Amino acid sequence: MSKTTPDNSDRAVKKKTSFGRKILIVIVVLFLAAQLYPVDRTNPEVVADIIAPDNVKSILKRACYDCHSNETKWLWYSYISPGSILIASDVHEGRDVLNFSTWTDDYADEEDTPEMFLDVCWDAIESKEMPLWFYLPLHPEAVLTDEDINILKAWCGVEDSEEEDEETVDQDSEESDEEEVATSDDDTEAKPAEKVVQE
Ligand code: HEC
Repeated sequence: MSKTTPDNSDRAVKKKTSFGRKILIVIVVLFLAAQLYPVDRTNPEVVADIIAPDNVKSILKRACYDCHSNETKWLWYSYISPGSILIASDVHEGRDVLNFSTWTDDYADEEDTPEMFLDVCWDAIESKEMPLWFYLPLHPEAVLTDEDINILKAWCGVEDSEEEDEETVDQDSEESDEEEVATSDDDTEAKPAEKVVQE
């Protein structure tokens, strides 16, 4: 087949190109202008770092510290707008909500640190809400493996009963979680056994 290129469409293509060029120039100008937007990448002093065993600390460092500590590693792409603006806003928001660098001032002394971690952090970890999903493709080291989760779990004392210690199947542990809640609710009224008798 031979190509047919009528004059009309030739002109249209030219017009398109110059329009495309204008758009490109606008984009480049906006991109350069965005680089001028001030971004605060300071790392304040670490004043009261969370106290935890090395294995726990290293998990938190690689999965949480970029957004929840004063030891953020600002990588090259955090210097390029608009990414830098988004990253900095996540870090500032993350630090506001929870900062492991001020932890023992904010929440706990050495003794009740695991307890406070359970209170403050466990839900976000168990629900896989944290670390934020969009952070993970660029930080594969931050993905929490089952082993990591078990280490955190064991440290902050999620499993109180020996029974749960042995259970590794997710479904099972969910079930026993529910049981635990149910029992503690009943504690204030009557013991489950007595209740059954009454009914
Ligand atoms: C990419 C940055 C980032 C990483 C990494 C990250 N967080 Fe967050 N985190 C945030 C931001 C931003 C918020 C506040 C907004 C929100 O809740 O989504 C937050 C909120 C929280 C909260 C408050 C409760 C909640 O669910 O909103 C907890 C607890 C938390 N993070 C724990 C953690 C833990 C533990 C890790 C590591 C396993 C972690 N985060 C990793 C950015 C991050």
